[in-house]
Parts: sequence; structure tokens; C-alpha cells
Amino acid sequence: MERPTFYLTTPIYYVNSVPHLGTAYTTVAADALARYRRMTGYDVHFLTGLDEHGQKVAQAAEANGMSPQDWVDTIAPKFLEAWKMLDITNDDFIRTTEPRHEAGAQAFLQVLKDRGDLYQGHYEGWYCLPDETFYLEDQLAEGKTCPLCGRDVQFVTEDNWFFRLSAYQDRLLEHYEKHPDFIQPDTRRNEVLSFVSGGLKDLSVSRTTFTWGIPLPFDPEHVMYVWFDALINYITAVGYGADGTPTFSGPLAHYWPAQYHFVGKDIIRFHCTIWPAMLMAAGVPLPEKVFAHGFLLTKGEKMSKSTGNAVSPALLVERFGVDAYRYYFMRDLQFGVDGSISIEAMVARYNADLANDWGNLVSRLFNMTEKYCDGVVPAVPVAAAEDEDIMRIAAHLPDAYEKRMVALDYSGALEDAWELIKRTNRYIEDSAPWNLAKSDETRPRLEAVLYTALEAVRIAALFVAPVMPNTSREVWKRLGLGDVHEVTDVAATAAWGGLPAGSRVEKGEPLFPRIYEDAE
Ligand code: MSP
Repeated sequence: MERPTFYLTTPIYYVNSVPHLGTAYTTVAADALARYRRMTGYDVHFLTGLDEHGQKVAQAAEANGMSPQDWVDTIAPKFLEAWKMLDITNDDFIRTTEPRHEAGAQAFLQVLKDRGDLYQGHYEGWYCLPDETFYLEDQLAEGKTCPLCGRDVQFVTEDNWFFRLSAYQDRLLEHYEKHPDFIQPDTRRNEVLSFVSGGLKDLSVSRTTFTWGIPLPFDPEHVMYVWFDALINYITAVGYGADGTPTFSGPLAHYWPAQYHFVGKDIIRFHCTIWPAMLMAAGVPLPEKVFAHGFLLTKGEKMSKSTGNAVSPALLVERFGVDAYRYYFMRDLQFGVDGSISIEAMVARYNADLANDWGNLVSRLFNMTEKYCDGVVPAVPVAAAEDEDIMRIAAHLPDAYEKRMVALDYSGALEDAWELIKRTNRYIEDSAPWNLAKSDETRPRLEAVLYTALEAVRIAALFVAPVMPNTSREVWKRLGLGDVHEVTDVAATAAWGGLPAGSRVEKGEPLFPRIYEDAE
């Protein structure tokens, strides 16, 4: 039987600067879902990439004394390195300067032109460069600033090509109504609904005052507006227009429509109004869902390069390790709303959940297995009443976890896995294997307790794996098992009793040594 497909995307990031915690946040969340969906048997296609055109990137290049192409070629490897460091398992990486994208984007624009959705006009209005967004006078915030980021805007007057966005208002509203899940979470859905109900203006989709962009195929003096160019990446990456014609076949037909676009809340309108209208205009099906997460705040402010409070992911990975990094962002914040981050909170999470709960459970249990059973997994026991609680939590975990992941509640999913981890720690305390080891009479019970706890650890590691891939792989290895990332039926693999008796357990180094230093 053919496996169901799961196509998941992150935004493509501007290359005006290097990756920071905000861009890493979306990417890690998408990676955790991609990993989990592979473990549940899906044919996953996980896309991320770079948004390399536009005035902002051109200016960054100029400020660094480089040509735009040299500049983007210098920055692109930094994103690739960051994603490698964070163990991101994207299946593809698209750059909008690649021929496959440029050809596809041009083919797309030609279709819109041929269908009568593009026309020539004159644009006079305001432009926010950091957000690459057009605004009309009445849309500006106080003091003629950008309503989104509050920064200064510049006046633009140009002869441009326009897209008939206004013609799609009713069809968009109808789509939102028919597909209540299309925009998530609800707060964002309401925001978009009221924005679109208020009326849509046609959109300027070309620029003539600079050249760093994709030329319009039918008017090469114009380059494509960077947002138009960027949004099309989601289909050019899977082959739209690669041969210059908009055929719907190959990987495009296989993976599209995408199940999810993950975006930050600041770019929800582009993804839920302009993008679906573009697809409607081109006769391409719409993505299933767009999910907007919140901002990471440091000391109450949005963390970004331009406000000067951006921290590099590498710095934190060096200090906490990659798994702990991923864990912190997925556990401590609620995906979908803004959340504050701090080193203090990170140290606290690390010590409580990772060093104390999870790391400690694995260390003490594997040590006891070594000490009392020569490192060999005992026989599968007949369950006693005292073991039933753990078995019940373990049996419930696949379903509970799946529900949380469907809702993109990463924090809740980890909380569910932690219920098993914490309960197993308590079970060891209550059963006191060190006392059971004192006499031959209690030996069967000692073995039963160790098996039960080891089996709980095997199952917990399975569900922790999408977020903490390295330590879960290590725990499975120490249990004498294969690569946890090759699992394709997580529920069946989690069935009780999967740990084979007689398997050799390795003790190994502590997974998460306690961090003693105070927060800075
Ligand atoms: N290039 C566009 C996206 C085009 S997608 C077709 C873009 N790039 S970006 O690099 O500026 O931002 C990419 C994403 O990072 C956005 O979703 C944005 O919300 C996210 N973040 C940037 N700073 C952030 C935080 N401080 N916190 C969380 N995410 C934020 O927009």
C-alpha cells in the first residue's frame, strides 16, 4: 500500500543576516513534526530554504561591499551549518536564486498573465523595507511608521504590474469557511478573516527601481516583488514549472498540496491571503493548513537582529547540547503564542527535566542492570499489581502523544512522555531494587522491576526521539536496540514487551550532566 504523504514547510529565510533563535525555532518545530510523522509511517517531505532576492538582501550585500550573488553565496552555507548543528532532517533546501525556482516562478507569473490576473498600473504608496511590504497611507501606524514592525517606511512611486488580489476576496472567505482548519491557531484565523472581510486591494507585484530579483518573463525590465517570488518556492521546490511549463506531475503531483506551512505570526497574511489567491489564480490546489507560531521574547521584546537582542543558536548549543536546546524550545514555550525565553529558564528546565528526571533515570537503571544482572536484560516478567500503573501509562502514551502532535502541542506531548519518565523514577524508588538484591528469595521480583523500568525507558525514548534525536538514539543503543529513527510504526513499536530478554545493556556516560553555574 502506498504510504500517505506529509509535505511540511518552514518559511524561507531572508539572507540579510545569519540564522538566529527565531528562525531556528520554526525549523526545530518543523523538524520534530517531520521526524514524528516519519515514525508514524508517512512519506514525509520536509522543505526549508532561503529567500535570496529583494531590496533588503541587495542592501545587505552592498553594505558588505559584495555583489548580491556573492553575498547570498556567503550566507547560505551558514544556514546549512546551523541546520546541521541542530540536527534538522529537511529533505530539500531551496534557494530562490536556483534555476529550478527562477524557471518555475516565471512559468507561474506567465500563467497569471495569460489568465488575465496581472495588469499594468501606477503605484504610489509606502514601503517597509525590513518587512518588504507595501502599505497605503491609511494603513500606516502613528508617525507614518510600519503597522507591523513600527519602523520607518519609504515613499515609493513606480509603474508596476499588479495582481488582481481584490477579485479573490469572496473566494478566500468561502475557502476559510469551508476549511475551518486552514488557518491556525484560531486567533490568527480571526485576524485574517477580519482583514479580508475589510476588503482587499490589488497588489503591486513587480519593482523597477532595483534589479536583484527574477525578471518578469513578459516584461524583463521589471523584477518580481520578493514576496511573490518567495511564496512560489513551496511549489517550485517540488518541480512546478521546472521545464518552463506549469505541468502538474512528478513530485509536485505526489506531494502537493502541502499538509502544513509553518510560519511566524508576522507573515500569516502573506500565507493566508496573497498565497492562496495566487494559487487560485494559477489553478493550483491550496495547501491544507497554515500554522502561525508566536514570537520569542527576551525581556518582553521580540528577539530579532534589528533590535540587537538576537542570540546565536550555536552559543546555546555549545553550552547545553543540541538535544537540550531543542527540548527547551519545544517544552517551555507553547507553539502558537508568544513566549519569553531566558538562560535562567533554560538552566532550570535542563536540571529538572533532563539531568534529574530523564538522565538520572537512565543512569541509575542501567547501573543497576549492570550491577545486579551483569548488564543483561532479565526475562519478561509476569506483571504484578505494582507494575500495572506504569504499563497503563505506557499503553496510553501513543494515543495521547498523537493527539498532542495533531494539535501541534509539543509541550503537552513532552509532558505526556514525562509522565512515564517520572512515574518510572517513582516506581524505582518504591520498589527499591537495592533491597530486593539482598536475598535470593526476592530475586524474581528484582528482575521483574528492572525489566519493567527498562521497558518503560525504551518506550519513553521512542517518544522523546522527535525532539531529542541524539539521546534517544543513544538510549536505544545502550539497550542493545537498533536505530530509533528507523521506526515507522511508533504505536506498534511501543507495545509492551518489545525489549528482548537477554539483550546487553551498556552503562555509558551521563546523558545530561547537571549544570551548576548560575545563569548570566
Ligand atoms: N523571507 C520571509 C519569509 C518568506 S516565506 C515564503 C521572512 N523571512 S525572515 O527571515 O524574516 O523570517 C522568517 C520567520 O522567522 C518568520 O516566520 C518570523 O516570524 C520568524 N521569526 C523571526 N524572528 C522571530 C522571533 N523573535 N520569534 C519567533 N520567530 C520569529 O519573513
